[in-house]
Amino acid sequence: MSLSVIILAAGKGTRMKSDTPKVLHKLAGKPLLGHVIDTARKLHPEKICVVYGYGAERLLEAFPAQADLCWALQEPQLGTGHAVKQAIEQIDGSDITLILYGDVPLTPLLVLARLSESVNEKAVALLTAEMDDPSGYGRIVRDADGNAIAIVEHKDADKKQLAIREINTGIMALPTEKLKKWLQQINNNNAQQEYYLTDVIGLAVKDGFDIHTQHAFAIEDVTGVNSRQQLAELERYLQKRTAIGLYEHGVTIRDPDRFDLRGDLKIGQDVEIDVNVILEGNVQIGNNVRIESNCIIRDSIIGDNARILSHCVIENSHIESGCIVGPFARLRPDSVLRENTKIGNFVEIKKSIIGPGSKVNHLSYVGDAEVGRSVNIGAGTIVCNYDGANKHQTIIEDGVFIGSDTQLVAPVKIGKNATIGAGSTITKNVAADTLALSRTKQTTVAGWQRPVKKK
Ligand code: UD1
Ligand code: CA
Repeated sequence: MSLSVIILAAGKGTRMKSDTPKVLHKLAGKPLLGHVIDTARKLHPEKICVVYGYGAERLLEAFPAQADLCWALQEPQLGTGHAVKQAIEQIDGSDITLILYGDVPLTPLLVLARLSESVNEKAVALLTAEMDDPSGYGRIVRDADGNAIAIVEHKDADKKQLAIREINTGIMALPTEKLKKWLQQINNNNAQQEYYLTDVIGLAVKDGFDIHTQHAFAIEDVTGVNSRQQLAELERYLQKRTAIGLYEHGVTIRDPDRFDLRGDLKIGQDVEIDVNVILEGNVQIGNNVRIESNCIIRDSIIGDNARILSHCVIENSHIESGCIVGPFARLRPDSVLRENTKIGNFVEIKKSIIGPGSKVNHLSYVGDAEVGRSVNIGAGTIVCNYDGANKHQTIIEDGVFIGSDTQLVAPVKIGKNATIGAGSTITKNVAADTLALSRTKQTTVAGWQRPVKKK
């Protein structure tokens, strides 16, 4: 049977105390609504329609137009039933409509698939959960035989109903044509004077439908985010779940409570990740890689056997196998480290290729440069790539040795196996196999007396 999805996301999220619409707040680096849309897509629905209201422009901007995605403006927001009504006209020809919430990000695909499958011409499907403290939620009312027959909102519930601990998660799947009909029949004669989506359950029962209820496995699967604290709690839950998945894949995460993946990760086996490592965007890590504590790695590829020592910031870079980077190194976008290179402490690399086996071990800046193989760049070397207006290229060929505290003023080329004496400022090209030096001669003043402080 064909399926469409409606995602409710019109609410402001007052308790977030934020200018940003709630569903744009990020969980594991992705907006809450993005999580819901991504899961919905995996059900291969004909259409996903998002009901939006608060922060309309920001939402449309965050989710660029896609063929399967449509939007329905709800203004003003008169309740969940009213919200679904705004979208349902755009759902045509789908047998089943699944209702999701933009602020309930972690419902597993399997749960939604099972829920949708249990809908038929005679049944509506409802995802429920058992809560120790059900305050605020709609309660599932059952008849003497145990069949669900209605949902009563907390504010409308009598004393007996308030004692019910089985709650409505809000997630339900219904036959589309019937849903359209039931939505016409709901009213706002209730404590909150809202059009409740939950009233369609009672209407379905009246029409002879069964209510197939399904229990959530974990409460986090159906938890909505209303506050920053709840967002942080779900974040830790999700990160821990990710870490546990990585254990099964053959990855050691030293402490699952201090691991953060904010994006997509492809990772090999026997990788060790120490505490407080943040992986962002698209990250690819090979086999036998070791990443020490406090590193941020964003949109980068790390080859087999590489070691990233502590406190490195690596962005949009490609580190080939066997490299050692850090501690305290920064790789800025478009840096490529070929096999077995070594980048040491307080070294910044930008938009440069460092050839196989080359070393930049201490306190250097290399930008807009092409460095060959087996090059040694001494401590404190600066590539002066920027003249205040333009960036210029530096080429350092294979086997070059650059003495410490050298400035290479680009554009400049250092030929194969050349040597640059320490403390030089190189402004002209250096030919292969030569030594270039640009230091003033050392002078000596004999018997020099240091000044003394006056008493
Ligand atoms: C709703 C359910 C309640 C359930 C609870 C689960 C109704 C009447 N009640 O409660 O049974 O236990 O969810 O969390 O459905 N929204 C709109 N437009 C609106 C109103 C809400 O888009 O006019 C969206 C909100 O942005 C939010 C979601 O719907 O994402 C749920 O709204 P919320 O007010 O949090 O839920 P309740 O109505 O309190
Ligand atoms: Ca409400």
